[in-house]
Amino acid sequence: MTIHKTRLAVFCSGNGSNFKSIFRAIAEKPLNAEIVLCVSNRSQCGAMEFASQNGIATLHITEKQFGAFDDFAAAMVACLKNAQIDIVLLAGYMRKVPDAVVAAFADKMLNIHPALLPKFGGEGMYGMFVHSAVLEAGETESGATVHFVNEEYDKGKILLQRRVPVLPGDTPESLAARVLECEHTLYPDALEKLLAMQNT
Ligand code: GAR
Repeated sequence: MTIHKTRLAVFCSGNGSNFKSIFRAIAEKPLNAEIVLCVSNRSQCGAMEFASQNGIATLHITEKQFGAFDDFAAAMVACLKNAQIDIVLLAGYMRKVPDAVVAAFADKMLNIHPALLPKFGGEGMYGMFVHSAVLEAGETESGATVHFVNEEYDKGKILLQRRVPVLPGDTPESLAARVLECEHTLYPDALEKLLAMQNT
C-alpha cells in the first residue's frame, strides 16, 4: 500500500536555513511529508540554490512579472494547485502572501516569526528589526513562534512557541543567532504537530 506523503511548498527569500532544517528533519524523523516545491521572490538565494542541488522544483514568482496583482495571486494559487501542494510553510519569506493564496490554504499555511508573538509582530517587523526592537524594549527573553497564516501580518493562531533568554551584552546579531538556532528545531516540531492534527 502506498501512503500519500503530505506535499509541502516552502516559501523563502534568503539564506534558507529553516528550509534546510525542515528538509533534514524530514530525512531523519518519521515525518510523512516531502518538500516538493521551493517558492521565492528571488531567483537566486540560499534556499533556491539548496532546493536545486537537492532535486526540489523551484518557482521564482514576483508581482513584477504580472500586469496586475490579482493575476500574480491567481498564478501563485495555480502553481501550488498544479503541484498538488497540501501544506505551505513560510520560512523567511519576506513578502506578504496574497489573500487569495491564504484563502486557498486556510489552516494549511504556517509561518515562523523570530519573536514571541503577539509581541514584536506586524508590518515592518521582520529579520533584524525584530531583534533590535526586543533589545530596545529591555526584554529578558525572546524566542520564536510558528503560527497559522491569515490575512493579517503575524496574527494567525499560534501553533507552537519556544523561548530563549536575552543575555547581557546581546546585540541584534547575537540574539538573532540564538533565536535562529531555536527555530531550527521549532519548525520541524511544529510541522510534526500539524501533520498529527491532520491525521486525527
Ligand atoms: C528567520 O529568523 C525567520 O524567523 C525570519 O527570517 C529568518 C530567515 O532565516 N522571518 C521573518 O522575520 C518573517 N517575519 P532563514 O532564511 O535562514 O530561514
